[in-house]
Amino acid sequence: MRVTRRYRFSASHRLHTPMLSEDENRKLYGKCANPFGHGHDYVLDVTVEGAVDATGQVVERAALDEFVRERILRRVEYKNLNVDLTEFSTMVPTTENLARLVRDLLLDNWNLAPRLAHLRIWETDRNAFDLEVC
Ligand code: NI
Repeated sequence: MRVTRRYRFSASHRLHTPMLSEDENRKLYGKCANPFGHGHDYVLDVTVEGAVDATGQVVERAALDEFVRERILRRVEYKNLNVDLTEFSTMVPTTENLARLVRDLLLDNWNLAPRLAHLRIWETDRNAFDLEVC
């Protein structure tokens, strides 16, 4: 069975790559290339998959919350993703890349009984990014 738990965090970013000129960045990323950055209220849906255990649950909610808080939320909450996350010193902090980073950070120390099955990050209510975890 799959269980999805929702988390929220606010962070800012600027979409910009040093491989391109200022004009090319503006063309590619539009207003998201604004040098002062901008913020999002991200929504992160974490889906785990496993058997229903003797307690009648797939995952202990508190354990999943603690893990996601420790591995992800405390790193990104109220942060400037370009500056505060060293991973984004060489990688544009698009939400595609953020989803891959979240997957890597979670898998790195995953210690829960069910497996991590799927991630979805909502950047705005029009943009959602889905990542199936194999
Ligand atoms: Ni943005």
